[in-house]
Amino acid sequence: MNEKAWSSVKEEIEATRDTTIADYFASDPKRADRFTIEAAGWTLDFSKNRLSPRLFDMLVNLAAASGVREEAAKMFSGEKINRTENRAVLHTALRNCKPGAQVFVDGEDVMPRVRAVLDRMAAFSDAVRSGKWRGFTGKRIRNVVNIGIGGSDLGPAMATAALAHFSKRSIRCFFVSNVDATHLAETLRSLKPAETLFIVASKTFTTLETMTNARSAREWLVKGLGSEEAVSRHFAAVSTNAAEVSSFGIDTANMFEFWDWVGGRYSLPSAIGLSLMISIGPANFRRMLRGYWRMDEHFRKAPLARNMPVVLALLGILYSNGWGAESYAVLPYDQYLARFPAYLQQLDMESNGKGVDREGRKTTCSTGPIEWGEPGTNGQHAFYQLIHQGTRLIPCDFIGFCRSHNPVGDHHDKLCANLFAQTAALAFGKSAAQCRAEGVPEELVPFKTFEGNRPTNTLLAEELTPATLGALIALYEHKIFVQGVIWNIYSFDQWGVQLGKVLAGDVLPALSSAEPPAPGRFDQSTDALVRRYREARGLKV
Ligand code: F6P
Repeated sequence: MNEKAWSSVKEEIEATRDTTIADYFASDPKRADRFTIEAAGWTLDFSKNRLSPRLFDMLVNLAAASGVREEAAKMFSGEKINRTENRAVLHTALRNCKPGAQVFVDGEDVMPRVRAVLDRMAAFSDAVRSGKWRGFTGKRIRNVVNIGIGGSDLGPAMATAALAHFSKRSIRCFFVSNVDATHLAETLRSLKPAETLFIVASKTFTTLETMTNARSAREWLVKGLGSEEAVSRHFAAVSTNAAEVSSFGIDTANMFEFWDWVGGRYSLPSAIGLSLMISIGPANFRRMLRGYWRMDEHFRKAPLARNMPVVLALLGILYSNGWGAESYAVLPYDQYLARFPAYLQQLDMESNGKGVDREGRKTTCSTGPIEWGEPGTNGQHAFYQLIHQGTRLIPCDFIGFCRSHNPVGDHHDKLCANLFAQTAALAFGKSAAQCRAEGVPEELVPFKTFEGNRPTNTLLAEELTPATLGALIALYEHKIFVQGVIWNIYSFDQWGVQLGKVLAGDVLPALSSAEPPAPGRFDQSTDALVRRYREARGLKV
């Protein structure tokens, strides 16, 4: 981190250590307004933070001194900022809605190809939705099964659930990711092959889980329909790797392309979103892209102090690096966003879970936090106890909407009353004096007291729509980017996932070979586990 700018931040944190969120509100009747930003259909209220106006200025200065603006400009312009993989990082080009926009990678304007793939996706989605695209036996497609994992699963799975209100209900979408056959088997149990379309989504088209599931799905289909010829009517692919797609046996006419400058966890607005597009239709998909783009434009242009992703990033750094918080919770008060925390886990933790800086040295500051969460109000009856009264500091992002797509009775008012009340309870708590005034017996006062001073951000939009969802995703993408810049780490590679994959490849043959592996083939513990597994399965040990 920029030492000079960070040491000013640290000094101010120390100087204000004993000032509480309640103190800040008491001394500033305009605090809620001062610390509220609007962008792309979203309002961010960050007033309930341990944040003096002076500390805020210093944090903004940290962003400026770290070169956030300059680094963002490099990303948007197609510079190869993913240095360890020598790639541009251009998920923003996928949703660039500016008429006639040009974005260059290696001297080539990528926008015509981006638009062409979107058009092909739209034509295919329309055909499936309208019933023009028929299965091998002439039946309409009723089920779409996306087979992918990580970024090729979490984005479309999250967004398809999030936008279910906009979906064509006569087509059901399923997402199979785990190599555990149970995932595929339980999904296919109620499906008819003649009405099922598989989308094999994989950037590399070599991922073990996806290829294993895709092969088994293919067998299920061919067995069910009695002909290899059925595959071309029931399988589409989304990938950067045409050679692997065709060697798998999927007609490349049914392949939707994307490019190495789209990171897996940033790929929802690419062809990886095909299952989502089939579900909500091309027009809604484009509305989502527009929402992303509005947030991109806000991120590019708004001053740092009024820049929503920058502010969220700085607050994260305040608690991670200034207060030692290990994690943060994302708490959507909307059932449709149930998968949003899981989606963010990959986005954040695969991006910024790095212990080496851009110069290849061990980082001296802590980096990517642990992200977790559940939809409200479920979390309230599960883990909020720890957030309110536990010993750990857990900053939270609360996400809510003013209108529900399911306006039944007073459910929505109750939902949002809880959202607002939780942030107030966390910030202001309940003192011992208040407890006593309410007649709480003295021996129970310590247990019923809430310290408060627990920081939260509140993100509020009018309604969950494709556009507000797109903007919300872009908000977190850019937040994570800004943090990576400030921590001086590379956010767009993921070397940490490799070792386990390679070792799994070593272990695999030892689980089924006729002869047992030689003792010492692996480490002592792994040797013992393999032996136990083989024994249980009746293999020679
Ligand atoms: O193992 C991690 C990872 O490489 C992710 O970054 C990626 O989203 C996922 O695997 C799936 O990769 P692919 O789309 O190539 O199958």
